[in-house]
Amino acid sequence: MCGIVGAVAQRNIVSVLIEGLRRLEYRGYDSCGVAVLGENGPRRARSVARVADLDEQVHEGHFDGITGIAHTRWATHGAPVTDNAHPIFSKDALALVHNGIIENYETLREMLRGKGYEFVSQTDTEVIAHLIHSVYRGDLFAAVREAIAQLHGAYAIAVLHKDQPHTVVGARQGSPLVVGLGNGENFLASDALALAGSTERFIFLEEGDVCELSLDGVRIVDRDGNEAQREVRQVAAYGGAVELGPYRHFMQKEIFEQPRAITDTIPQADSFDPSIFGEDAGKVFAEIDSLLILACGTSYYSGLTAKYWLESIAKIPTQVEIASEYRYRESVPNPKSLVVVISQSGETADTLAALKHAQSLGHKHTLAVCNVGTSAMVRQTELSFLTHAGREIGVASTKAFTTQLVALFVLAATLAKLRGHLSDEQEAGYLKQLRHLPAALNSVLALEPQIIAWSEEFSRKEHALFLGRGLHYPIALEGALKLKEISYIHAEAYPAGELKHGPLALVTEAMPVVTVAPNDALLEKLKSNIQEVRARGGELYVFADADTKIVNDEGLHVIRMPEHYGLLSPILHVVPLQLLAYHTACARGTDVDKPRNLAKSVTVE
Ligand code: M6R
Repeated sequence: MCGIVGAVAQRNIVSVLIEGLRRLEYRGYDSCGVAVLGENGPRRARSVARVADLDEQVHEGHFDGITGIAHTRWATHGAPVTDNAHPIFSKDALALVHNGIIENYETLREMLRGKGYEFVSQTDTEVIAHLIHSVYRGDLFAAVREAIAQLHGAYAIAVLHKDQPHTVVGARQGSPLVVGLGNGENFLASDALALAGSTERFIFLEEGDVCELSLDGVRIVDRDGNEAQREVRQVAAYGGAVELGPYRHFMQKEIFEQPRAITDTIPQADSFDPSIFGEDAGKVFAEIDSLLILACGTSYYSGLTAKYWLESIAKIPTQVEIASEYRYRESVPNPKSLVVVISQSGETADTLAALKHAQSLGHKHTLAVCNVGTSAMVRQTELSFLTHAGREIGVASTKAFTTQLVALFVLAATLAKLRGHLSDEQEAGYLKQLRHLPAALNSVLALEPQIIAWSEEFSRKEHALFLGRGLHYPIALEGALKLKEISYIHAEAYPAGELKHGPLALVTEAMPVVTVAPNDALLEKLKSNIQEVRARGGELYVFADADTKIVNDEGLHVIRMPEHYGLLSPILHVVPLQLLAYHTACARGTDVDKPRNLAKSVTVE
C-alpha cells in the first residue's frame, strides 16, 4: 500500500528517502518516486518498477538535496503509470505525496480547472497539490491548513515548496503519519519503520494534525488550529532489514517461524490473568456481557475461530463482523459489549474506521489484538494484547494468524475463568497444551515434503474447494484465501454440511476438494460428506488427524496429521494449508511475497 517518507536535514537526504522506501516495499506498491529541492525548485524521479530502479535513476542523475519527499504508490485512482506516480507537482513549484483517497476530487478538479490549473495525471492526489498551490501566499503551513479544510476523504500528505527550502509540511486525516525527531534534522513517514536507522524518537500524529518540519524543530497544530504538544515516544524495536536466511520466500520463512512466534506470544504466567490485556482488564471483563469482534481478511477468520472458543469455553455471546460491512450498516449497539479489533498491522483503514464507528455508537470497552505495539489500533483501544509474531513481510498472513489465534484462545480462557466456567484442572490442561503447541507445530511442519508432492497436482488446477466443519470451518476459509491470494487459483470454502445445498454441483475430477479432518465431535458427519464427494467422482485431499482412521483410497489422498489436539487443533490444521498454498504458488511461478494487486497493509478504504 502507499508509503510516505520525508526529510529536512543539513546533509544530502536522498539515501534516507530511498532507504525509507525500501523499508516500506514489502507492503506492496506499483510505482515509486522521490523529489528533492534544488536551486531551481523541486526535481523528481519516478519509476513503475522497483525502488532499486529509482535508486539507479537518482544515482545516475546525481540527485542531491537537503529537503525531500518520497513515495510508494498502490494505485487507486489512475493506472500504475509514471504520470500517476508521486510526487505530484503543481506549477513546478510545489511537490506532494499522498496516501489515502480524496472523495470530492472531481468537484475540486473542476473548480481548479476554472482557475487555470492543468491536470496531467488521473490521480485524486493532483487536486491536493494544485489546491495548496492555489492558496499559497508565502506560508506553506498556512496554505496546507487552508487547503485541507476543503478535502473530503482520507489522507496523509507531505508537501514541499521551492520558496521554503528547509520545510516539509505534513497532515493526516484517516491515514497514519509519524514524525521522526533527529538532531538538526527531522523526518516524516507513514510508518516509523521507514525511519529505522535515522531516528528512534517519534511523534505519532493524531487525526486532523498538521505539522511543519524544519531543521531545528517540529511544529504541530491540531484539527482546531491549536498548538499541540504530542508525546515523544522512544521506539527502538525497528531493527535492520529482515533477512531471508535459507528460505526462498518470506512467506516460507514466516510459516516456519510459527513455533517461535507462538512461544513468544504465549503469556509466561502460570494462570490466565486478565492483567495481560491491560491494567483495567479485570474490571472491564467483569462489566461486559458479550463480544463484538471486528476485523478484515485473515484477521476476520481468526475472529470467526475465536467465536467457537468464546461461546463454548467462556459461554459469552460473540458476534464477528467484517469491519468494512459493520461500519456502514445500522446496528444495535450494546454498551456492555467488548469491542475486539484484530489486526496484524493495526493500521487497516476499514478496521480502524469500524472501531471508531463502534466507539461513536457508545461502545466504551475496546480491546486490540495486534502485532504492532505502536499502531493506531493499539493507541485507540482501552485494552490490548500484543502478538509477538515479529515483522511479517509476506503479503499472505501466516504467523500473524496463528499468533492471533493464541491470543484469542487466551482471551477465551481468561473470560471463562472470570465467569466461573474454568476449573483449576482445565486451566492447567489448557496451559499445558499451549506450551506444547510449538513442538506440535514442528511435527506438522515436517509434513512439507508430502505437501510439495500434492502441490504439483494443484498447480495444474484452476479451481479448488475447501471443506471444514465447526471450529475448523474458518480454517477452511483461511486455506482457500491463502490459495487464491498467492497462486491465483479460484478457491471457495464451505462448511462440509452445506455441500449438498449447492456446491456439490461443482464437484468433478477436475475440482480438488481439500478437507480439514480433525478427530472431533463432527468427524462422523464429515466422513459422510467425504463420501458424498467420492460418490460424484471428486478427488479429495484430506488433512486427517492420525486418530481419525481416514486412509488413502481411490480418489482419496490423505496426509496424516498428529493426533487430535483438542480445542487448539485449528492452530495445527491451518499450517498444512499455508504450505499447500505456498508450494502451489511456487510451482505456478507467481510472486509469492508480493501477489498481484495486493498490499500488506491496507490503509485505504
Ligand atoms: O493487518 P490486518 O490484519 O488488519 O490485515 C487484514 C487483511 O488485509 C489481511 O489479513 C489480508 O487478508 C491478508 N493478506 C491475508 O493473507
